[in-house]
Amino acid sequence: MARAMVLIWTCYCVVLATKCVHCLGVNWGTQASTPLDPQYVVQMLKDNKIKKVKLFDSDHWTVGHFAGTGIEVMLGIPNLNLKEFSDDYDTVEDYIKENVTDHLRDHGGVDIKYIAVGNEPFLKAYKGAFEKTIFPALKNVQKALNKAGLGNKIKATIPQNADVYDSGSAGPSAGDFRPEIRDIMVKISRFLDQHNCPFMVNIYPFLSLYENEDFPIEFAFFEGGGKGVQDQNIRYTNMFDANLDTLSYALKKAGVSNIKIIVGEIGWPTNGHKQANPKMAQKFYHGLLNKLSSNKGTPRNPGYIEVYLFSLTDENKKSIAPGFFERHWGIFRYDGQPKFPIDLSGEGNEKMPVGAKNVKYLDKQWCVLNDDMRNLSKVNRDLEYACSLSDCTSLSYGSTCNKLSERKNVSYAFNMYFQMSQQSVEACDFNGAGKITNRNYSTDECLFPVELMSGGGRNVAGMISFLVGLFSLLVIL
Ligand SMILES: *[C@@H]1O[C@H](CO)[C@@H](O)[C@H](O)[C@H]1NC(C)=O
Ligand SMILES: *[C@@H]1O[C@H](CO)[C@@H](O)[C@H](O)[C@H]1NC(C)=O
Ligand SMILES: *[C@@H]1O[C@H](CO)[C@@H](O)[C@H](O)[C@H]1NC(C)=O
Ligand SMILES: *[C@@H]1O[C@H](CO)[C@@H](O)[C@H](O)[C@H]1NC(C)=O
Repeated sequence: MARAMVLIWTCYCVVLATKCVHCLGVNWGTQASTPLDPQYVVQMLKDNKIKKVKLFDSDHWTVGHFAGTGIEVMLGIPNLNLKEFSDDYDTVEDYIKENVTDHLRDHGGVDIKYIAVGNEPFLKAYKGAFEKTIFPALKNVQKALNKAGLGNKIKATIPQNADVYDSGSAGPSAGDFRPEIRDIMVKISRFLDQHNCPFMVNIYPFLSLYENEDFPIEFAFFEGGGKGVQDQNIRYTNMFDANLDTLSYALKKAGVSNIKIIVGEIGWPTNGHKQANPKMAQKFYHGLLNKLSSNKGTPRNPGYIEVYLFSLTDENKKSIAPGFFERHWGIFRYDGQPKFPIDLSGEGNEKMPVGAKNVKYLDKQWCVLNDDMRNLSKVNRDLEYACSLSDCTSLSYGSTCNKLSERKNVSYAFNMYFQMSQQSVEACDFNGAGKITNRNYSTDECLFPVELMSGGGRNVAGMISFLVGLFSLLVIL
């Protein structure tokens, strides 16, 4: 009897483990001068027991690396493709064939579970550019999935920014979709519900703090304290709970009370702003991951919540229109090395996570300001040029390299431009003001990075197909 119980319990646990109901996901964006090679990323995810990854496109070569790994993959369709996906159903069928169905066969198959259609299409900054195309695109994707016989296994959804809904100052129970997009949000929510697709939302307590100096800082974290928000008989002490429950009420008002909610992005940046540093990121993730692993959920959504952290690595080519912090969301640096202690398995044992292994860098060399260049006003324009084409966000106020001397500032800019140009000799000229050196100019605080060697696999594949092509040409001749 006892043995049978143990057996049943074991089976139950195995089912839980393989179904991945308790594990974390992570976003992996590749807007970097040299994105990490997917083979290193796969290993990193395995080493840190991360079982789900959310991508922002469907790059065939990248997605192929997840075949047979047991890592669940969410593909992304960029906003730029929404018009085509809304107007031309055949395009969508081709996409599903090439970027979904084909992957299910190769080498044990890629475990694709969701397709994220667009990314935060109702962001106010887009001024309504995607309002007409997002819903038809969503419908076309799910229709094509159904037609390919995949509709039960793979679900379409839309990652929404959290300000598609709000509650004014009245607390979560007053939650509703923003009036100007309410109609379309209600239609989308009902469609998702009818097709058993989840509602996906990105939640950023950091941005609330960034946008509003008066935002109570403790409300961004999970340790209580502060006034919180009293809503009838519930007192909310953190923004995560309040935000998710506001959405819950908005969905209830839209007539879809039981739809599954997934948090598509959540995280804390480590540079580019005075509130963005490894210490605060560590505190945020500590609270978040403890909360998630306890499976308590929120007052209105008790239980497990599916979450994708933002983000795996830094991306030095993201737009900085929202702020300098945009390029520093990584739990890991650009090269896959860890920044702060965290327990990604959610078990509460905080330590440095396992970094990417065997990553290949370019030569150990840096581009800096020539010592004999005494008149700095002569290099002002070079500095601006270098920064405009590379990444100087770490020089900004409150950032890791903000305390450099004026000369080192110039060196930092020169080096970023040099590294992001793959260390090309011409990229360290600056009319004679730059020089290449083997001396590491980094300080404890401020890293002068060395660029990664670029995507070996893709180049090898390209080279092989080039050689094969050349060979067949020779044979024909
Ligand atoms: C597959 O995805 C890639 C990358 O997102 C895209 O460039 C390509 O056009 C897609 N293929 C089809 C047939 O849509
Ligand atoms: C430094 O360079 C600027 C701009 O070229 C020039 O106007 C200025 O006279 C120079 N200063 C010295 C001390 O040479
Ligand atoms: C270095 O550059 C940053 C960003 O442009 C600026 O805030 C800082 O004051 C500069 N430092 C010096 C010493 O000029
Ligand atoms: C340069 O120095 C920094 C800080 O000491 C260190 O973290 C980094 O690994 C060094 N870079 C290289 C390429 O050795």
